Amino acid sequence: MNQNPKWAGVHDLMAEAAWRARANAWAPYSGFKVGCALLTSDGSIIAGCNVENASYGLTQCAERCAVCAAVANGHHALTDAVVVTDQLDPAPPCGACRQVLFEFGENMNIWLLGGSGVKQFHRLADLLPHAFKFTPNNGPQ
Ligand code: THU
Repeated sequence: MNQNPKWAGVHDLMAEAAWRARANAWAPYSGFKVGCALLTSDGSIIAGCNVENASYGLTQCAERCAVCAAVANGHHALTDAVVVTDQLDPAPPCGACRQVLFEFGENMNIWLLGGSGVKQFHRLADLLPHAFKFTPNNGPQ
């Protein structure tokens, strides 16, 4: 019941899409290229890459780039993410990206691929316990 899901054919396709997107990453400042592919609830695969900026703080991570592409294409439900880098240790999504992924997939499966084929699996719920949820009151008191 609590077992990790199995890497399946769709994850191979996601990894290909993530590596392709990573090749387009714009990372002239850090030199650290990241690709991310998302699986939507209807089986679409949408990829993104990190996009750095001369004003460093404006840098967009690969995960958030992919989420924006998914939403722009009408997808609001995500089930899986594959994140690829050439770093030996796979790179988990940063804190900001975890919260953004959570918005569209509270139970997402996160697959990390590093250099030399190192692979890790995490549940987003484990990476981001007690995620922020907006539960406003019924107007000002
Ligand atoms: N980066 C990502 O694309 N995703 C993350 O979750 C963490 C960091 C990028 C941002 C920057 O371009 C480079 O990695 C180094 O921080």
